This record gives sequence, C-alpha cells and structure tokens, in this order.
Amino acid sequence: MDSLEKRHRFQVSHLHTSVEIPIEFRNTALDLRNKTLCASGFHAPERGKIDILDDVLIDVSAGGTISAIHRPSDPNYRSIRDAREETGELVTLPAGSYLLPGFIDLHVHAPQYPQLGSALDVPLEVWLQKYTFPLEARYEDLAFARRSYGLLVDDLLANGTTTALYFATVHQDATRTLVDTCIEKGQRALIGKVSMDNVDECPDYYRDASPEAAINGTRALIDYVRTHPENTDGRVLPVITPRFIPSCTDATLEGLGALAKECGCHVQTHCSESDWAHGNVLSRYGVTDTEALDRFGLLGRRTVLAHANFLTTDDMDRVREREAAVAHCPLSNVYFANAVFPLRAALDKGVHVGLGTDISGGPSASMLENCRGAILMSRALESGVDPTLDSAARATFGPAQIDFRDAFYIATAGGGVALDLPVGQFRPGYLFDAIVIDTRAEKGSVRLFDEFDSGEQILQKIINTASKPNIAATWVGGLNVRLP
Ligand code: GUN
Ligand code: FE
Repeated sequence: MDSLEKRHRFQVSHLHTSVEIPIEFRNTALDLRNKTLCASGFHAPERGKIDILDDVLIDVSAGGTISAIHRPSDPNYRSIRDAREETGELVTLPAGSYLLPGFIDLHVHAPQYPQLGSALDVPLEVWLQKYTFPLEARYEDLAFARRSYGLLVDDLLANGTTTALYFATVHQDATRTLVDTCIEKGQRALIGKVSMDNVDECPDYYRDASPEAAINGTRALIDYVRTHPENTDGRVLPVITPRFIPSCTDATLEGLGALAKECGCHVQTHCSESDWAHGNVLSRYGVTDTEALDRFGLLGRRTVLAHANFLTTDDMDRVREREAAVAHCPLSNVYFANAVFPLRAALDKGVHVGLGTDISGGPSASMLENCRGAILMSRALESGVDPTLDSAARATFGPAQIDFRDAFYIATAGGGVALDLPVGQFRPGYLFDAIVIDTRAEKGSVRLFDEFDSGEQILQKIINTASKPNIAATWVGGLNVRLP
C-alpha cells in the first residue's frame, strides 16, 4: 500500500488490533450508528461564531443521533477513547480530513435538474412559460421521473447535501417517485407536490385542474409520506407547496392555509422574487406577498419563503414575528431576481435564513458554490457596481457584506433552524448528518500549507475552494449514504 493510499484510509480499531477500512470513503459502507467518531472539524451553532472541533469524540446512537460529544479537555476523554478503541467502536478520521455538518439546501426544484446550467437567457416570467413548465410537464412520464430524480439525489449527496427542501411537480405519481427515491437513497428530504391552478398564469398542459385537485392532491401526498412503510423515522417530510401566489387561485391559497393549520406541515413558496412577481401580487391584492401569505394562513414557524428579495421593512418584521424563514438563493437571484437579497440585514434582525441552490434558476447544485455566491453578491451590494459613479454615489445600500462564517452558517445550522429540525450542527440530540472534507484529495481544489493554515483559516479555504472531489463521505442519520 503506498503512502497516499494509506492517508486515505479510516483507522478503525478492533479488539486491540488496528483494522484499516479502505477509504475511498465515498464507496465505503460505513455505518456510524452505535460507534464513536474521532474527528476534527467545524460547525457554526451560532451565527458569526465558528466552533472548532479538535479530535473530538462524537458518540452516535442506534437511531443515528448524536448522544454525546467529548472534547480532549474533558476529564474522562482519554478513558472514553481507550474504552471505545478496546471494543472496536472507534472510527478515526485521517489527518487532513475535516468533519462538517451536511449541507441543508433550502430550495430545490427537483424536476428542473435536466435544465441545470441552461435556460438562463430570459426573465423569470418568460423562463417559466418557455422552458420550465414544458420540462416539468414531462414528469407525467414516471420512467423519466425515476431516472432524473435518481441522478439528482445521487449528485446532491455527492455534493454534501444531506437535507433538501424540494419542490416536485403537480403530478401525484412523480412526486411519490421523488419520495421513494429519497427514502431509498437515504437523503433527508422535505417534499411538496406543487400546487398551481390559476388559468391566467399556468398553461393548459401543466396545472391542477381545480382548487380541489390542488388541495386534495396535497393532502394525498401528505398521507403517502406519513404512512410510507419505509419512512418510519420521518426522514422524508411532506410540504404544502403553493408555487407562488401568481400561479394559484384564492380558493387554493385559502384551502392550503387551512390544511397547513390542520396538519402542521412545512409550507414553501416563492416570495417577492423579481420585479414582475412582486408587482403581480401588489396589483392583485394591493399588499405584498408576505402580507397576503399571512392572511391566507401560510406564514408560520415552518414556512420557507424562497428568495424574498423585495421584502419591505414591515415584511421582514412580520417574517421574524411569525418565525418563518427565508431561503436565500444568491446564484439564482443574479439571473432572475433583478436585485440582491439583503442577507446581512435579515440576519442582523434575527430572521431565520438558510441557503438554497434553487436548481435550476441557479446554475449550480453545489452548496459550496452558493456559499461563494452569497459572499460575492453581499460585497457587490455593499460597494455598488457602477464604475462610472464615484464610490460614495456607487455605494448606496449601506453595510451588507457577509463573510465565510455567515455563508457557512446559513448553509448548515441556519437551514436547520429554518426547518425547525435538529440538523446542521453537532450537538447532543441532533441527527448525525455530516460530511468529510478531505483537504488532501489530489483531484480536489483545496491546497493547505501547514506553514500558513490553521484554525478558522482552514474552514475559510474549504468554503472558498473545496469541490466535489474533496467531499469524501456523506452521512445521514449516521449512515453512509454514498454506496457504490
Ligand atoms: N417562481 C415560480 N416558479 C418558480 C421557479 O420554478 N423558479 C424560480 N426561481 N422562481 C419561480
Ligand atoms: Fe425557485
């Protein structure tokens, strides 16, 4: 075995003899349930603060939750570590590998995966009619749905996304296929059958036939998910999903609001995304999306508003009061929003915010690339972008910059808070949903120098430079979900 190969092996101790499990981690059927992981890494339990984990021991329960975390400074650390080693329950990450919470993608259109990286040349209202509705309509074909959804979920897991909040399509059967795919592949997922029944905005070939069809179809999907025989641990959850106000009739919005109250499910929708979308709702009701959604009973603790670029100050206060959340989609916003979401202002205000790829409005399925997008666009918002103006005239918005810490927070812990789920941080009682970043992966894009890089600097480099080849393992509920 050459030394490079050796570096890429898990050290597993077993009854005094040290057993090495070959790691190409991604192909290893390594189940961490009832084991203890010894790892270094990072998480951001609070916005703005990085907790550096240095050789911590993480006990994972039979149910895939974190039962305890032991730090080297704890008095019983050594004895626990020795005991786990003795019983063969200790798994140790190799040097150069760092444990991070799995990414939580707060806004994904699963059916749009075939169009990722294309169809970016027209405004939102044209894009929907010209490209997106025709593509989504194809999910009537279940064989196509199975193929497309299988590829998507595999790719997201390989990208380190352990939880995804998905819009599916209007179709009952194809949406069930997405549920089955996530359960089969082990991804934590929240999935909604899309509701869209407004004949003025939705084409004949792709819409719910009536408000009853939208509401009953949603109810049927909720029942399917909740009674699924292989979903007893609730790894997949149902979501009430009015596409956005323009695509829904009042009757559907009212019915879905009542259903949200009745079932306590998550709710997701698009909110004040672009000039057109925001203006459409203002002219229909004379109030903003946020206020209208609130009136329909669709703005609660488990609501996720995608984009939310044009929130007024009152809207933001309302979102915070209701403890609803925003899915910030920085890359998508460049193409479709006509504006930059004021992320820093929202975080400063205490609004729950997570990060979303918005596949395929955003052209990348990678949460890391979306972290970078969030950082870049926050800087552009603060500086302004028109080089013909002097700096004072150019910078009209005010302080808006965020850094890698905030980007990492919204991609992990912030997403967990938004969803009201115990994910996104390493804490007893939380689910062990995690990834390993192998900074020494030859084909990866992180280059650390021992002379220069330590502590938070390593995380900064991971957020700014890591790519898929660096993501060496993905665990959901303690289970490696990247089997060959
Ligand atoms: N608004 C309504 N539908 C969509 C969609 O599919 N993507 C985005 N980005 N915005 C929307
Ligand atoms: Fe979207």
